[in-house]
Amino acid sequence: MANAIELTNVSKVYRRYSRKRQFATLKSALLSRSLVRDLNPEETFPAVQDVTYNLPSGRTLGVIGRNGSGKSTLLKLVAGITKPTTGSVKVNGRISALIELGAGCDAVLIGPGMTDAGAVAELTGCLLNHLDGPALVLDALAFSTLRADAGRRGPMGRIVVTPHAGEMAKFLGIRREDVEGDPLKAARKAAAGLPGVVAMKGAETYVVSEDGEVLLSRNGCIGLATSGSGDTLAGILAGLLARGTQPVLATAWAVYMHGQAGTDLAKERGEFGFLAREIPAEIPRIMMGLRAAPATG
Ligand SMILES: Nc1ncnc2c1ncn2[C@@H]1O[C@H](COP(=O)(O)OP(=O)(O)OP(=O)(O)O)[C@@H](O)[C@H]1O
Ligand SMILES: [Mg+2]
Repeated sequence: MANAIELTNVSKVYRRYSRKRQFATLKSALLSRSLVRDLNPEETFPAVQDVTYNLPSGRTLGVIGRNGSGKSTLLKLVAGITKPTTGSVKVNGRISALIELGAGCDAVLIGPGMTDAGAVAELTGCLLNHLDGPALVLDALAFSTLRADAGRRGPMGRIVVTPHAGEMAKFLGIRREDVEGDPLKAARKAAAGLPGVVAMKGAETYVVSEDGEVLLSRNGCIGLATSGSGDTLAGILAGLLARGTQPVLATAWAVYMHGQAGTDLAKERGEFGFLAREIPAEIPRIMMGLRAAPATG
């Protein structure tokens, strides 16, 4: 009988990132030494070591073990989400269940481009109930269709929501004008209720942490208010979370770099001369520039 899964001397080594964080304002924080260091790998650790195993077709495999023993990493390797550092993984067949894929991820982003409110609410609720590991970014309908206490069921401490004023109004059950009149108040209310990190988007973007810490970004330009721009912000944020950055820090970085990308593109092409799909390509250069910036604290 053919094997469904063949693992041959599979090992996976991860890089670990530092978590130090001490800051008061967004601008000073993002240029401070501790935050720049946050993006630097500091050490490695082996998550899976020299696993050889063949699973015959038609058989069921359960992976059990204590926290941190490498179960998720093994699933990620089998699902092809990550590659082994050494050894080989061969899978004969398809792996596609969403929850299992989510369970093998470091970050999940849901919302951009989704239009069926009922289906999005159902999927988001399902992910909140079942995901136990990845950070979760909820954008657009995935946030605005949430019940106000939804985060209490979910992956505590690892939820970030990225609403504009209309989405926040729907979530809180208030008028859009009320959110626009006092976006910080709305963001604080949402952050306290979830609990999670809130990026309240607009010409100015407030980042509010679960414990009420507030960061304000005025970086950006009006050209960022273009269709799909918010989606790129959510994607940048999910990417930072996936590389191990803590939620409030990842949100601050994402908002800052998204704004900077808009500012830079506006200088090159004019205020309205760029498209949302051009924003992500700016990010590596901005990150490299921040790494090269002199440490200030
Ligand atoms: N006047 C402005 N100046 C600077 N940045 C802005 C301005 N208006 C909006 N932005 C930024 O642009 C982004 C727009 O995100 P938003 O989610 O509203 O748009 P979208 O996802 O492209 O569209 P939608 O969600 O309506 O489909 C946000 O990051 C926001 O902070
Ligand atoms: Mg949006």
